[in-house]
Amino acid sequence: MRSNARAQHASNTKVSRLAKFDVVSIEDLETSDIERVFALADDFYARLERGEQITTAAGLIMATLFYEPSTRTRLSFESSMHRLGGAVISSADMQASSAAKGESLADTVRVVAGYADLIVLRHPHDGAARVAAEYAPCPVLNAGDGSREHPTQTLCDLYILRKKKGHLKGLTVALCGDLKFGRTVHSLIYALARFGANIVAVPTSGMDVPDYVLERLAAERNYSFSTVTMDELKSLAGGLDALYLTPSAPHQMALFTGADALQTIPASEPPASLDAFYVTRLQKERMSGKEAGAADYVRFDARALRTSRTSEAVVMHPLPRTNELAYELDTDPRAVYFEQAAAGVPVRMALIAWLMEKAAATTSPRAIAEPIRFKAEPPPRCSNLNCITRFEVAYLAPRFTLGRSADTTVLALKCDYCERDLKTEYVGHTRSHRYYRFDENLQGYVRQWIEEGSLAVFDNVKQAEEGGYEPYKRGPQREIMNEQEVVRAIESLADQVIADVLDMPSVSIVGVVSRGAMLALRLRELIGSKTKVFPPCAALDVYKPDDALHPIDRTETFVVEDRTIVLVDDVINSGWTVQRAMATIWQRGRPAAVKLAVLIDRGHRAVPIRPNYVGKNIPTSRTERVQVRLGTAGSDPKVKTHDHVTIYSIVEPMKEPEAAH
Ligand code: NCD
Repeated sequence: MRSNARAQHASNTKVSRLAKFDVVSIEDLETSDIERVFALADDFYARLERGEQITTAAGLIMATLFYEPSTRTRLSFESSMHRLGGAVISSADMQASSAAKGESLADTVRVVAGYADLIVLRHPHDGAARVAAEYAPCPVLNAGDGSREHPTQTLCDLYILRKKKGHLKGLTVALCGDLKFGRTVHSLIYALARFGANIVAVPTSGMDVPDYVLERLAAERNYSFSTVTMDELKSLAGGLDALYLTPSAPHQMALFTGADALQTIPASEPPASLDAFYVTRLQKERMSGKEAGAADYVRFDARALRTSRTSEAVVMHPLPRTNELAYELDTDPRAVYFEQAAAGVPVRMALIAWLMEKAAATTSPRAIAEPIRFKAEPPPRCSNLNCITRFEVAYLAPRFTLGRSADTTVLALKCDYCERDLKTEYVGHTRSHRYYRFDENLQGYVRQWIEEGSLAVFDNVKQAEEGGYEPYKRGPQREIMNEQEVVRAIESLADQVIADVLDMPSVSIVGVVSRGAMLALRLRELIGSKTKVFPPCAALDVYKPDDALHPIDRTETFVVEDRTIVLVDDVINSGWTVQRAMATIWQRGRPAAVKLAVLIDRGHRAVPIRPNYVGKNIPTSRTERVQVRLGTAGSDPKVKTHDHVTIYSIVEPMKEPEAAH
């Protein structure tokens, strides 16, 4: 989970009495934190209603730094601090501040931290709040950073939704409009996923939820949702049964991330009813002109609430509204957007009071993933033109961690500030001065290069060659196993496991994502059909250290303790993946034994791990690569598989150029 950055570049300007705790993303708050904030908000709500004088924050000063227009967010933050008995200093138009003279964000927040206990920041650039949090020695609350997140709006949204519906789990919420640039939507999605609500995304065309949000949801919450078009929503709202839900990409991804699809509406069924519509305006100011979407933008009116499926739904909007929400709805009790805006005061009071509680408690900052060090100059730049690293260039070095990409022909580097992926096709090794067109077989090496600080990435061949890098060439590919041979090898693996393991009910299978997991399923089916014992099966993703192991069948819980674990992978290259997988299994518990099953043993590896079960031995030289391709899961006989294995030679990436020839 995303860490909460402690100020990394803090100056000695700290005057704050509050503990350093930043809310940059809604994910910085634990579920218990959110629950505590809501409890405090309930209390403040009641006390405000009684007209009580509150002095909780007496003596504290909050600074609001707004680099973008705002009515609700800034005024409700300021009102909440006044209501708490604290004081406010405000720069509502940062264009009129030193920023206009060219002051950096880092300098501004360090200066302001000398005047205030707490900074509330709104900024047009993605990731700006993260930068402010790292430089300010006092807490920073993100009041909207570009199109990324708006966590405190989400607190208000959730608070009202829960108040209206009594709970969050199991609710079905339709998110309508600009889901691409709508930062309130992004924070809300993470939160709805966490609280077990169903999401139906209804983007205006071209305004879909961005991939980085979907990927984070899949990776951190095992969550995906369906997307419907505006027309499909209309037929739903019109009471027709013709609604057709189109699964979004992560829905399909869910198969091998072991996603808990319990929270997701089956793709073939329309939701039985909708509990809320969350309508948003078109974020015109963030559009480059390339985006379409304005013409067919959602127009939400009272008709949408007339069907049996929607009659109980509340209508939400973060406001301001433009044309997407008809004024006729305002008097309808199901329209709750003004209550949402009003909740800004008690909820933000609660957040400040909660920060004060935090100051009293000791907090340990959560760990931040180690960013990739680039020795080669220039280091890669974030591809997002609105990323804060593109603007604060004098002091802010781009920072990346390893991302995830469904496309195995690109290496994804995740920007640590804006979360967008930089997808690169060419990677290089700074010691050998070779460059490579990336493919998944280089994954293990790239990991190693990252560890030793010798990874270089290039936009294209020209950049690599201008940097003095030489190409490596991949030899011709040759098929060495056809479909029957692969099927036979998997059968052989199953037979070996059955022969070796005396007590089949004690066996559990763990497959390394993705092909190891596909193999694991096929092994389970084969073992089951032969022995009538279907071992529990989990997928293990070595790229998700916090959340790596998931039962493939979601109705099971996966136990490691005292089990005989059969760890399955397709082929061992460097052995790094197996090593990581073993470590993850041990973190989960103490198995009775771990046995390694590989489809193909190449006869050599960097670490001393020997597989117990081997589908086929294919001795290869170190300069050769074996690539296994598996068809769709073999458990469905109707699905045509295309299993095959190919081999090709490469120039050993780790060798120096002379030795490579
Ligand atoms: C939103 C924002 O600024 O992101 N407004 C708000 O804070 N309530 C939504 C918007 O501007 O459309």
